[in-house]
Amino acid sequence: MEIKAVIFDLDGVLVFTDKYHFLAWKQIANELGIDFTEKDNDRLRGVSRADSLEIILEKYQGEELSKDDKEALLKKKNDIYVEQLMQMSPADVTSDVRDTLKALRDRGIKVAVGSSSKNTAYILERTDLTSCFDAVADGTHITRSKPDPEVFLKAAEFVSEDPAYCLVVEDADAGIDAAIAAGMHSAAIGAATRSNRAEINIDSVKDILNIL
Ligand code: BG6
Ligand code: MG
Repeated sequence: MEIKAVIFDLDGVLVFTDKYHFLAWKQIANELGIDFTEKDNDRLRGVSRADSLEIILEKYQGEELSKDDKEALLKKKNDIYVEQLMQMSPADVTSDVRDTLKALRDRGIKVAVGSSSKNTAYILERTDLTSCFDAVADGTHITRSKPDPEVFLKAAEFVSEDPAYCLVVEDADAGIDAAIAAGMHSAAIGAATRSNRAEINIDSVKDILNIL
């Protein structure tokens, strides 16, 4: 495949913040009397904060929640999550990730982030990854989260490349569906490998260097 840009998802691909999302949502769900497992969490991968709450509330049996109640829950979830992010440092990025980003750029391939998260800029800053990318498209640039292709199309636009020459690396089924909807190539890692929806499954981000 001819690839001119690689678009990386953030949470669960470049950094393992997916575990912090899980712990924060588990606390919120449990306080609402809802059981919340790792399997439930897989449905939230790549999905916006507000849409994630709606998925969690599918199992809610308490009194009806108002718009303000939901806003308060979303704020609480993010406060718990951001508290966890404060402990992140450059050491939270593996050498595989750093070496792969550098190797891609050395080959003249553009690298971008395509994430639903509104905390993207903060995470990239804390982990010293900001300067490793040609462009960042995130939750602050979009109105529809994955599986809608909007964030990946924005990333392609930001690096001025045709979607057909972009490869998306994703740990979420919703992200793989978004990549396909964007007309891009797709590589699944972690949880997204189980559904076999992507063009290829990889064990480590560095594996993409062997297929380009
Ligand atoms: C995605 C995560 O990257 O970002 C989702 O996989 C998360 O789990 C979404 O809900 C939104 O993140 P944030 O940081 O804006 O709440
Ligand atoms: Mg992810």
